[in-house]
Amino acid sequence: MYIKNLKLINFRNYHQLELSLHPKVNIFVGDNAQGKTNILEAIYMTASGKSFRTIKDREIIKMDKQQGYIKIEGEKRYGKVTVEIKLEEEKKKQVKVNGLTSTKRTELLGNVYVVIFSPEDLKLVKEGPAERRRFIDQELSNIKPKYFHHLHQYHKVLMQRNNLLKKIYQNKKYMDTLDIWDEKLAELGARLMFERLSFINRLSMLSKLVHRKITDNRETLELRYQSSIPMKKNDEEMKAFFIEKLKESQEKDVNRGSTTLGPHRDDLGLYVNGIDIRVFGSQGQQRTTALALKLAEIELVKGETGEYPILLLDDVMSELDQKRQQFLIKSLRDIQTFVTTTELNSLETMEFSDKSIFYVENANVKYYAKD
Ligand SMILES: Nc1ncnc2c1ncn2[C@@H]1O[C@H](COP(=O)(O)OP(=O)(O)O)[C@@H](O)[C@H]1O
Ligand SMILES: [Mg+2]
Repeated sequence: MYIKNLKLINFRNYHQLELSLHPKVNIFVGDNAQGKTNILEAIYMTASGKSFRTIKDREIIKMDKQQGYIKIEGEKRYGKVTVEIKLEEEKKKQVKVNGLTSTKRTELLGNVYVVIFSPEDLKLVKEGPAERRRFIDQELSNIKPKYFHHLHQYHKVLMQRNNLLKKIYQNKKYMDTLDIWDEKLAELGARLMFERLSFINRLSMLSKLVHRKITDNRETLELRYQSSIPMKKNDEEMKAFFIEKLKESQEKDVNRGSTTLGPHRDDLGLYVNGIDIRVFGSQGQQRTTALALKLAEIELVKGETGEYPILLLDDVMSELDQKRQQFLIKSLRDIQTFVTTTELNSLETMEFSDKSIFYVENANVKYYAKD
């Protein structure tokens, strides 16, 4: 899919902006703090309903205003799609998909697909498990709105169980009600675990192929789902085992006031030629893996939804060496791509024939050139 038009009103530092976008490559050039990432953020929001930088709408609405607005018009395989988001101070977001209003941000999911690649993603491999869980949750939610729903429910139950644990610590009489929460947590948790397992297996196959190409067949990447509770064959067995494990750790959990087992403690294992590169990988290997994961994700979105996603490359080009840059560019083919950079020179390797270049200066976007 691709986006044809973008409109912003009182979004971040933009008072009013209307852009016609190139179906292939759009490059935004400008100094720091001019408004380049803000444009990517707006596009990202039309896909996921939220920002990748903040959960507070107040920060997104232009500083001295009470309302903000984003609209995109795009083309998909089977026709047009328009997504509008209205942000209001101290109110829930309003979203409109093809003109139909909803107040649920989740209604947006499944309309616009984006894959974002930023310098933080390059750190994904060496950061802690929480970062990798966020990666899995974000990507899975993107292609499977139902997953997002399950995840949300799981975290609600988890919070309730944790609150109860703290009460039990004060007074043992509350112990009786713990079983109910264990059961609920296990049911939702088991579902999440199978969804993660199948996602990671598919991503593992796809990223292995990409990774082989980047490393000229010298290295083999393998992804492993490392669940904090060992996997069982099916939902039923998983749930039963989950409950058993929760029971075993009840005392520990009460003492800590938190649930020590479950999908919220999972990790994604990343191995190159059998070696754990989260710990032992060189910086180059870690970056190559991050790149392979992102490129695999593009294919995965295509496989799941039939549409190629839009790719957002935020300041990432200058972080990659020439070889990896070139590989990335070669892999893009027909995917609509948004690139931000402070130096047009750093994109030298980008011999795109189809592109628009925009200069961004203090929230003014000037169309510069088109090949
Ligand atoms: N809610 C807001 N209202 C007005 N300006 C904002 C708001 N949020 C961020 N900004 C401004 O946006 C600019 C940063 O934009 P950004 O797109 O991140 O820059 P860059 O071009 O470096 O990617 C800064 O000047 C910041 O002050
Ligand atoms: Mg930026």
